[in-house]
Amino acid sequence: MSLSFLKKKNSPIWERIKHDDITRLRLKYDTYYHIFDHQEGTHVTKDGKEYVMLSSNDYLGLTHHPKIKEAGIEALKRWGSSTTGARLANGGRTFHRELEEELADFVGKESCHVFSAGYLACASSVTGFLGRKDLVLADKNLHSSLWSGIKLSGAHCERFAHNHPEHLREILEAEDPETGKAVVLEGIYSMEGHIARLPELNAIAKEFDCFTILDDAHGFGVLGREGRGTADHFDLTDQMDVISGSFSKSLSGIGGFVTSSKEAIEYMRSHSKQTIFSAALTPVACACARAALQVMQDEPEHRERLFKNLSRYLSLLKELNLDTWESEAPAVPIVLGEKEKVYYFWKALLEKGIYSIISIAPGVPPGKDLIRTAISGAHTDEDLDRIEEGIRYAATKI
Ligand SMILES: Cc1ncc(COP(=O)(O)O)c(C=O)c1O
Repeated sequence: MSLSFLKKKNSPIWERIKHDDITRLRLKYDTYYHIFDHQEGTHVTKDGKEYVMLSSNDYLGLTHHPKIKEAGIEALKRWGSSTTGARLANGGRTFHRELEEELADFVGKESCHVFSAGYLACASSVTGFLGRKDLVLADKNLHSSLWSGIKLSGAHCERFAHNHPEHLREILEAEDPETGKAVVLEGIYSMEGHIARLPELNAIAKEFDCFTILDDAHGFGVLGREGRGTADHFDLTDQMDVISGSFSKSLSGIGGFVTSSKEAIEYMRSHSKQTIFSAALTPVACACARAALQVMQDEPEHRERLFKNLSRYLSLLKELNLDTWESEAPAVPIVLGEKEKVYYFWKALLEKGIYSIISIAPGVPPGKDLIRTAISGAHTDEDLDRIEEGIRYAATKI
């Protein structure tokens, strides 16, 4: 019998794993990776206690929509669990093409490609187009998927101050006009809830001949006509070269997309490692996204309810003088500025049966330690009453 399990593990990597402070503190305070044993709409249960979910990205509250569930079940029966292959190889099916056509049409672009995660899609919206000789102008507060894409592309990167057109201009003025340049933005910034200053940023990008990439994971389904997104909201869809997004927010699913011209999407299919070397979106995920896209268009009441709920929630936070970082979207941070305060606020919410998420530096800029909350169209008046009670109570603890 091999006794290899008794061998001393002496690699420096094992040393690092054993003595990692981030993991030690995470486990000590038990703030992340919770497992719920039941979910029903906006309610989740853990160890016999029920919570109102106040941090999900299910903005339109569609996770339990009967039409979406039915579409997923039918797809599973008809197509099985997976196509077990990359799109480039053997993984493509007619349902991918149908979803891509519908999404392209909805966003207002010529063509689309879908991925098995929003993270892959948004990373690919950069790696699919840029290379080592290019320059990326990146908003300082971009999502990790975009930083991964930027890093993998090998392009040189300059960061500009968050949502700051004049800083973008300053950087561009100092750059070589001959270099291929791309400006990478989010439509709604996921942590802050800020809407991109798209008209000004786009005007500067165009003045300096930049390619424009917009990750609209949080704007899609929320802003624009019927939820077509941030570019549509500003009537700038034609101006964005690439628009990417995720199915795990307003569409209540899993997966992601990149839209652009036909030529650009075919180019991306040749160059993006995220599509060439990763298996295709599953039949169930594809069918659920398609059904959700249809529900979004047929049932505007979910969005209406979202904005009604948001308005009540923001009034409460304002009344309590809580700092929401000027969020303009359903993703609403409560900035408390110190990790201890964030921890006690979060614990107090848990005590009252409200589930939120902690985000502390370096995940957010120093001094911006916050509780990340998000409002859903599925929150009922009773949920909002409970949220109000919880927030009022938590505010007394800091
Ligand atoms: C701005 C942004 N882009 C991309 C993603 C990745 O999407 P997904 O979680 O669906 O993989 C997220 C997820 O939070 C996001 O906030």
